[in-house]
Order: sequence, then C-alpha cells, then structure tokens
Amino acid sequence: MTNTTLDDLFAMAKEVAPKAYAPYSNFHVGAALLCEDGTIITGVNVENRSFGLTNCAERTALYTARTMGKTSFSAIAIATPDADYPVSPCGACRQVISEFLKPDTPVTFGSNDENRINTSVKELFPFDALHELKKN
Ligand code: THU
Repeated sequence: MTNTTLDDLFAMAKEVAPKAYAPYSNFHVGAALLCEDGTIITGVNVENRSFGLTNCAERTALYTARTMGKTSFSAIAIATPDADYPVSPCGACRQVISEFLKPDTPVTFGSNDENRINTSVKELFPFDALHELKKN
C-alpha cells in the first residue's frame, strides 16, 4: 500500500525532466511510475542522433522498472515542462504502457499543475484487442 498521490507522482516527473538527454528536440520529458509496492521509478527521454532510436521518458521508466523486477504498477505521471499545453504519450508509449499497466490504471500528464490531465490506460489506448491474447 502507498500514500503517494498523483500530485506527488507528477511533481517527481517534473523534477526529473531536466535530466532528459534531448539535444535534438530540446524537449525535456520526465515520467514517474508508481509500483504497487510503493516504489517510484523515474525516467527521461533519451534521444539519439539516428533519431529512430530515441526512447521516450515513459518507456525508460517502464523498462527500468522491469529491470528492477517490478511487475505491478498503480499509476504513471508524465511531465512535459517545455510545452505550454499537456503533451500526451506517443502511440508507441501507449502500446508499451498497455503491456504492463492494467486498463483502469490512472495516467496523469501535463506541462504544469494547471493544465494537467487525469486519464486512464484504457482511455489512452482503447479497443486494446491484443490485450485479450495476453497470457499471464
Ligand atoms: N517524448 C517523450 O519522452 N514522451 C512523450 O510523451 C512525448 C514525447 C519525447 C520524445 C522526443 O525525445 C521528444 O519528446 C520530442 O518528441
């Protein structure tokens, strides 16, 4: 059990965003993933001069979490402080988020506390038919 709120999680995503490696877009993104055991794992976007190898902040957090042996997650927050509107996760990240987070899991994203949007995995990634095929 955990007392971490979505506000706390978003604050951590914002705090980590400046650590992004984003020399090409100059767009810094931070993610904070709350594990069911209360651990919080952060991630940033890591770009590459080949462009196609860029890893978004959300995926960095999720892959780190799996590496740490975490398998159950309670929420994810994404902060895009360089934008003046809330930037939602890209299509690739929605697919990866849906691989590891249950449909009802809260997702919050925004560039600041004022424009933050609270949503869920299933709202971001509806009609997830392949999810039905997934074996535990
Ligand atoms: N980016 C993320 O890390 N997460 C998002 O949700 C949106 C986009 C990154 C990818 C790239 O490094 C930069 O932001 C511009 O698209």
